[in-house]
Amino acid sequence: MSLLLQIADEVGTPCFVYSKAAILGRYREYADALAGCAHTICYAVKANSNLSVLRLLAQAGAGFDIVSGGELFRVLKAGGEPQKTVFSGVGKTADEIAYALEMGIFGFNSESEAELELIDSVAGRAGAKPRVALRVNPDVDASTHPYISTGLSQHKFGIDIVEAENVYQRAMNLPNIALESVSCHIGSQILEPGSIHEAISKMLALVERLRRRGLAITHLDLGGGLGVAYKPGEEAPSIHGFIAKMREATAGLGLHLMIEPGRSIVAEAGTLLTRVLARKRNGGKEFVIVDAAMNDLIRPALYQAFHEIVALNESPDRMVADIVGPVCESGDFFARDREVAVVAPGDVMAIRMAGAYGFVMSSNYNSRPRAAEVLIDGETYKVVRRRESYEDLILGECA
Ligand code: LLP
Repeated sequence: MSLLLQIADEVGTPCFVYSKAAILGRYREYADALAGCAHTICYAVKANSNLSVLRLLAQAGAGFDIVSGGELFRVLKAGGEPQKTVFSGVGKTADEIAYALEMGIFGFNSESEAELELIDSVAGRAGAKPRVALRVNPDVDASTHPYISTGLSQHKFGIDIVEAENVYQRAMNLPNIALESVSCHIGSQILEPGSIHEAISKMLALVERLRRRGLAITHLDLGGGLGVAYKPGEEAPSIHGFIAKMREATAGLGLHLMIEPGRSIVAEAGTLLTRVLARKRNGGKEFVIVDAAMNDLIRPALYQAFHEIVALNESPDRMVADIVGPVCESGDFFARDREVAVVAPGDVMAIRMAGAYGFVMSSNYNSRPRAAEVLIDGETYKVVRRRESYEDLILGECA
């Protein structure tokens, strides 16, 4: 029996399964491509924040990109180094900033002038002087799904590149922050890295202008965003090629490169296992009802995202069906009019490429306990998050 079927039987479904080798393989591709150049790979925790995944990456030498105090808490619990952790995100609370300062993180990527002032005042009270980069919005089109594109001036993210210089100039008067870095992130699931390269050249021109104004910019954070191949025939950009171009563009500028990849490290390493509950026909359409739902993996419902779905029964007969979950919403589907192997109740199906933005975006909607998570290491596996119980559902509530 395949390991996946064994896991479905022993751990139950729905269940997220991650491959240690695949996660480390992707991380090493980045690390190899950056070898010999001053860099930090800050894995974007939001993509998959399971403690075991974070620990794997921490042990491999990764730093982390966090967007909340909760993510910092996870990084520390997993043994990650605060000195290699950057705090990004559109809005940080004073408490989160104070916590990050207390833990001694590498620095902040800040997205507004108001936040720069807040960091400055919290740092002043703490007697600290953290590194702060402005997250600059370089106004390039990442050509990805509108919900995950962030680099155009119409988006809420970052500080307009036209404004950035003046904001840096004014920020030079804030006594408790060190302006040594600039950052950007233009979007996610980018399959055409030309847009990232366009952003890099705009960022380098900005670094030059800032240096001319007397700011000693030493670090350049280029965010994450490299896409993966979800659909058959889709081609993911090569990590090596992408980084080689980045190195070429920044060679000789004395910049420490930082990147914040999330999806490209963990997406492919993860699969969501689900069991067929029933089949039915409605209005001439065939439906396969499975035990996973939009609360477990919301990407198809939220972004019309495509995930390959494979029946593990290896039946040679094919059919076309909608693969749907039990949640009471029409949006609760994993695939529409998809050709799959003929399945029967009890069969296990694998929803591929579910390692990124899968479990982390899951919820208890419809009071469904969240799925278990499993990490495969060679031929063995370990449950790295147990399935939630009914008691977990009401934790902290009172009647
Ligand atoms: N850095 C920053 C500041 C970010 O906002 C993000 C992702 C990343 C790094 C990592 O980007 P990646 O390498 O994973 O593309 N839930 C959506 C994706 C949202 C991405 C948000 N920001 C999805 O399921 O497609």
